[in-house]
Amino acid sequence: MKFFIDSADIEAIREIKAMGMCDGVTTNPSLMAKAGRKDTDALLKEICAVVQGPVSGEVTALDAEGMVAEGRRLAALDPHLVVKIPTTYAGLQAIATLSGENIRVNATLVFSLNQALLVAKAGAAYVSPFVGRLDDVGEDGMQLISDIVEVYENYEYDTEVIVASVRHPMHVVDSALLGAHIATIPPEVIRKLVAHPLTDKGLAAFMADWETLQGSGS
Ligand code: E4P
Repeated sequence: MKFFIDSADIEAIREIKAMGMCDGVTTNPSLMAKAGRKDTDALLKEICAVVQGPVSGEVTALDAEGMVAEGRRLAALDPHLVVKIPTTYAGLQAIATLSGENIRVNATLVFSLNQALLVAKAGAAYVSPFVGRLDDVGEDGMQLISDIVEVYENYEYDTEVIVASVRHPMHVVDSALLGAHIATIPPEVIRKLVAHPLTDKGLAAFMADWETLQGSGS
């Protein structure tokens, strides 16, 4: 299973990459705003240089022609750049055009199986269903992942499933059990994945016993 980092924070990405936990990165306009860098093209290029894997940069045009133009420009920034396109009617047109030019597209803001089917048919390299936002409105985000994985297998689509809007460690556990190709995970959730109270308790006991041994006579 691949881990992408859902962030535009270059220092966090660098740190997690050094641990071998960063196979790619996803950004969006909100994450760019959080990073506080207006030179977004330069930031995307820096992220690509660190990650050496797929890095999604999102278009901000809303019409198909604008998305295609922006997508071509983004794709030319770096060979690792993946163009993130919102899953709208105009978005589908842009996905088909860019994918036809061998530009990899990540179809974002996916909330239904029909949307996932459409973007796969349009040739998207990746689909990003937002599980946390579905959970927020009382729907079952992971059920959507299960359905997409099953349907993509049924019809042998090459589109890779990126579990997005990951909020907590159980989203990662469930993604792995369902066979999703990728989870895109915020840095704070990566840190939570390694934490376990029994690890802390066990380590404290080992250290206490070690201290006792050092203080003993023989
Ligand atoms: C996915 O690519 C998005 O950047 C992201 O997962 C959105 O997550 P959020 O719902 O926590 O904003």
